[in-house]
Amino acid sequence: MGNLPLIPAADPMPLPAPLWLFKVLLLVTFLLHIIVMNFLLGGGVIAIVARWRGAKDEKFARLSRDLSKKIPSLLAATITLGVAPLLFLQVLYGQLFYTSSVIMAWPWFMVVVILTIAYYGYYLVAFKDQKNNAAVLGWVLIGSVFLTFLVGFIYTNNLTLMLTPEKWGKIYFQDPSGWNLNLTEGMLLPRYLHFMVASLAIGAFLLILSGLYRWKRDVENARFLIQYGGKWFMYSTMVQFLVGIWFLIALPKEKMMIFMGENLLATIAMLAGILLALAAIFVMSGALRKEDPRKGAITAMSLIGVVLVLMVIMRDALRDAYLAPYFKLSDLAVKTQFGVLLLFLVLFVGGILVWIWMMKKYFFGAQAAALKE
Ligand code: HEM
Repeated sequence: MGNLPLIPAADPMPLPAPLWLFKVLLLVTFLLHIIVMNFLLGGGVIAIVARWRGAKDEKFARLSRDLSKKIPSLLAATITLGVAPLLFLQVLYGQLFYTSSVIMAWPWFMVVVILTIAYYGYYLVAFKDQKNNAAVLGWVLIGSVFLTFLVGFIYTNNLTLMLTPEKWGKIYFQDPSGWNLNLTEGMLLPRYLHFMVASLAIGAFLLILSGLYRWKRDVENARFLIQYGGKWFMYSTMVQFLVGIWFLIALPKEKMMIFMGENLLATIAMLAGILLALAAIFVMSGALRKEDPRKGAITAMSLIGVVLVLMVIMRDALRDAYLAPYFKLSDLAVKTQFGVLLLFLVLFVGGILVWIWMMKKYFFGAQAAALKE
């Protein structure tokens, strides 16, 4: 190990499936988690703004009500879809992730408490009588959205701390109680903001999707949803360009270089991501000037779908670049168990299909439509 700090050894038990498969599953499930998390956070912020504007304009009051009713389910979905990458993260990077989780044990443990309180708040806003408790419920909503943002902050602390074993000893011995975060990390704030600003842009897609779904039944409200969502998407993505540049230059130089040609995949992903995000803004802005904005809005959302995949690839390349001095995934032993693997894949695909079907029924089924009338 030479002068390298001691980090716990990887689990000697061989992986039961090829490395690449675990990596793909980690990235795919993380992408799903982050999309729903964006709907939750972005939807929450838009619900607050719409609630405030709703005092003068019924369109906004209705939007806020609609979003508030969806949020408890989005929180449940975010948590459920967080469990899957959590498992794969532990399989691939367990010894690093466990150590950072122990160093910041209390804030990490508080995630469960914070989420429970936020959950209660969201439920109150969704189901309590809005007319008699409007002001209090407005504050409850703000409180719950704030707590959800706090959870994201704790995640970014842990997922950056696990990348820097050289800092662990110092942080731990300064305060072994577990009341630590990773606040001295240079990329912490821009990385966190990058996720949060993205959640406003992607959260706006929730409005656009509702608009697309309602187009035939209530074209006026549907157009409003697509246009308002489209504006949230465009403005937050413009801000994202600034935050993204800050994130990039906050990285240590040798890590930044992986996006500047050192790692071909990461470099192409970044360039393509920037170009596609720019294209999506232009397409959306063109769509919003049209009587029927649906086609442009769908194209812009599809482009951003590709951008999200590219960003997940970049984030993964960055993680492996950080960990390269300490640990390579190829060091892990692999002994594929084909029977178990096949069973897992069948159940995994089946699970995702059932989940999509359930979401469709829940948000867009006949009963859901009847409830909204
Ligand atoms: C509901 C509130 C939540 C929010 C706002 C949230 C937000 C985030 C954010 C922003 C990240 C990326 C952090 C970074 O890379 O800097 C992240 C990653 C992650 N989240 Fe969540 N999360 C939430 C709940 C959960 C829960 C309850 C779980 C597990 C049950 C979970 C599992 C994960 C995992 C495993 C990752 C990292 C995946 C990887 O590094 O490849 N999340 N989350």
